[in-house]
Amino acid sequence: MTAEAPAAGTAPALADALVVAAAAWSRLRSGQSLDRALELAMRDLAPPGQRSDARMSGAVRDITASAARRCAVLEYLLGELVHRSPDPAVSALLAVALAQLLARSYTEFTLVNQAVRAARSRAQTAGAAPMVNAVLREFLRRRATLEEQANSDPARRFNVPPWWLNRLQSEYPSRAESILAAQLEEPPLVLRVNCRRATPVQVLAELTAAGLAARQVGPSALWLHRPTAVERIPGFAAGVVSVQDAGAQLAAPWLGVGAGMRVLDACAAPGGKTAHVLELADCRVDAVEMDPKRAILIDSNLQRLGLAGGRARVLVADILRPSSYWDGTPYDRILLDAPCSASGVVRRHPDVPWLRRASDVAKLATRQAKMLHTLWPLLAPAGRLLYVVCSVFAEEGRRQIAAFVQGQPGARRLRLPHGGPAGLQLLPNSAADAATEREDMAVPVLHDGFFYALLEKI
Ligand SMILES: C[S@@+](CC[C@H](N)C(=O)[O-])C[C@H]1O[C@@H](n2cnc3c(N)ncnc32)[C@H](O)[C@@H]1O
Repeated sequence: MTAEAPAAGTAPALADALVVAAAAWSRLRSGQSLDRALELAMRDLAPPGQRSDARMSGAVRDITASAARRCAVLEYLLGELVHRSPDPAVSALLAVALAQLLARSYTEFTLVNQAVRAARSRAQTAGAAPMVNAVLREFLRRRATLEEQANSDPARRFNVPPWWLNRLQSEYPSRAESILAAQLEEPPLVLRVNCRRATPVQVLAELTAAGLAARQVGPSALWLHRPTAVERIPGFAAGVVSVQDAGAQLAAPWLGVGAGMRVLDACAAPGGKTAHVLELADCRVDAVEMDPKRAILIDSNLQRLGLAGGRARVLVADILRPSSYWDGTPYDRILLDAPCSASGVVRRHPDVPWLRRASDVAKLATRQAKMLHTLWPLLAPAGRLLYVVCSVFAEEGRRQIAAFVQGQPGARRLRLPHGGPAGLQLLPNSAADAATEREDMAVPVLHDGFFYALLEKI
């Protein structure tokens, strides 16, 4: 499991975690996002005393995310192993249990035993407990052949729908496999060091003293080798560090903020980049977010970092309606971290490829174009707009910006470190790449997939 194993005697029972994870899995397969599915399954099925227990929700998240990373293989295995279609609750329990067997997170005996206990613990699945036992044991007997067959199909092996695989193969003929392989990995936990409070070297020393192995993977980015609850990370509560992927950490420095500047952070929640901008310069930021629940997260992030109030205004508004948040004074800098396919952050959101349809990418690109056109007039002359998407699809990145600049003679593209004139496409890379020593950290060595383009108004 990704979360560290809790001390003996305090861990939630695996059987209980499997029950909740199975309920989350059912919700996920009927179209809910992983986060929402987990929230509702915890509310409905976690033992009463453990509904807000971080260890329980961590264990359930690990089990469900592990299944989500193997969605296509699990569907195949269920098709091979289960001959009469069982109650959906039984299928879901089998799916999450098989995922744990595939991940080899527990001994085979423990896992099968706990899955059978999980089945017995609920009226809906109790009658199928012998069948759960039989199916899991049959999988173990035929494991090698079944795994080989399941992985023989690349879309199944990489856990994406065929249209997603085809799109990546046509856009990145020689890189598609490495992108997909990186996205099957457990997401790395990366911290951003608050430059107002400490240096990466100081934080590394504190992490080491606390027994948390880490290494620097970007200018202010530290990768914790073992995912750890944030409460256990020294300096987190005090605002010395925040959790943020090293690729996402490039936005604030590349925006080039200076003291006194007026900055618009469009699409701001949960506020990772808002906070970074405020850490870097004594500027004023309007952080606009349409979703009121998510806007609350910006406030709590800023409070933890001691950056709330004063220089930051959190505004709940639709960025496409400037009259609802803009006072008419142009912004010196605009950060547009636009909603996108999230095709660059699949290892953090393994549900994403299964929630999207091929036609969604064009719809998202149309919305992003609308945002660019709406925000451009809000930018001061000589002002800069940084466009970011956590996507690897060119329609949302390189092609989006090319079309915008072509229709907007007052927009000039600026070169980014390591990027060409068309912008910088960062492809998600593997934790194994981060082992390579590199002096130059201008572009991090471990990161998710992002597209960046910096535009200047002439
Ligand atoms: C990629 S996330 C932003 C992440 C954020 N910049 C950070 O670094 O923490 C996109 C956000 O845009 C918000 N959003 C989507 N459409 C919007 C709109 N029309 N106006 C304002 N916010 C919007 C979404 O609710 C979501 O929170």
